[in-house]
Amino acid sequence: MLNGKKDLLGIKELTAEEIALILDLAGDMKKVVLSDDKKLGTLKGLSVVTLFYENSTRTRLSFELASKYMSASSANITASGSSVQKGESLLDTGHTIDRMGTDIIIMRHQCSGAAHFLAKNIKAGVINAGDGMNEHPTQALLDALTIKEHKGGFKGLRVAIVGDVLHSRVARSNLYLLNKMGASVILAGPSTLMPKGIETLGAEVTNDVDKAVSGADVIINLRIQLERQKSALFPTVREYSSRFGLNERRLALAAKDALVMHPGPVNRGVEMNSAVIDCDQSFIDEQVTNGVSVRMAILDLLTRGKQSAAD
Ligand code: CP
Repeated sequence: MLNGKKDLLGIKELTAEEIALILDLAGDMKKVVLSDDKKLGTLKGLSVVTLFYENSTRTRLSFELASKYMSASSANITASGSSVQKGESLLDTGHTIDRMGTDIIIMRHQCSGAAHFLAKNIKAGVINAGDGMNEHPTQALLDALTIKEHKGGFKGLRVAIVGDVLHSRVARSNLYLLNKMGASVILAGPSTLMPKGIETLGAEVTNDVDKAVSGADVIINLRIQLERQKSALFPTVREYSSRFGLNERRLALAAKDALVMHPGPVNRGVEMNSAVIDCDQSFIDEQVTNGVSVRMAILDLLTRGKQSAAD
């Protein structure tokens, strides 16, 4: 149990011990995900609903599969196909789902703080699947599982997070998590895509990607989030790729066993070229697998009290 919490809203709210607990359990869940018998009875009798106001492939599907692998009743709502289109508010939508006996709502929303708001106002547990430019905690946890599996831990690691930091909830969650677990973080990208004052959260900041990746143990590249840019924040995609993209030359500056990671979806040829995306050091596919394992662990830990009631 996560200290009796009903919600998982951000890495900011987790202790290092809670993060370690999630990662340990996710390691066990991964054996189920990779087996030919993906069925646990853990969530039997419980219901899980995904409520997504923004598009998603990985997060939504992995939560849905995680729920099914653990025997929950699961259902999905997207803003585009629901009464949100008729003007129903987030609170009324949340209440409606709550009153159907839902135990866990997994929510993605374009506004920072939306998951915290809903969690305070409904009985069901809320898992933040990405809120605006604030946090994407389950992404950071699956990234952490990938790092832990291949590096054995976090202490002393140098992690470069490169790209559109300004719009990235993934960068913020990873920064919180890596700091809590003892790694050091260097953020790199164009000055126009770097939030002012981010160094106060505990990171070195540069716009020199060569410097950031030199000697790095892990490189996490971020997607350029054109959908969140109100005006052009870099001259051309070609220039971005040349100055800030990860290519073979830049990867050679990192530690020779450095992990290459990306939360996906990748803009091939922009943040990274295909040779790097598909190289032996790339763990992007494994991140996807770990997404299911981590989400199973979180669903288990948040419902421990209810599981005994359901038995
Ligand atoms: N990494 C991530 O959140 O991907 P999706 O938008 O496909 O869920």
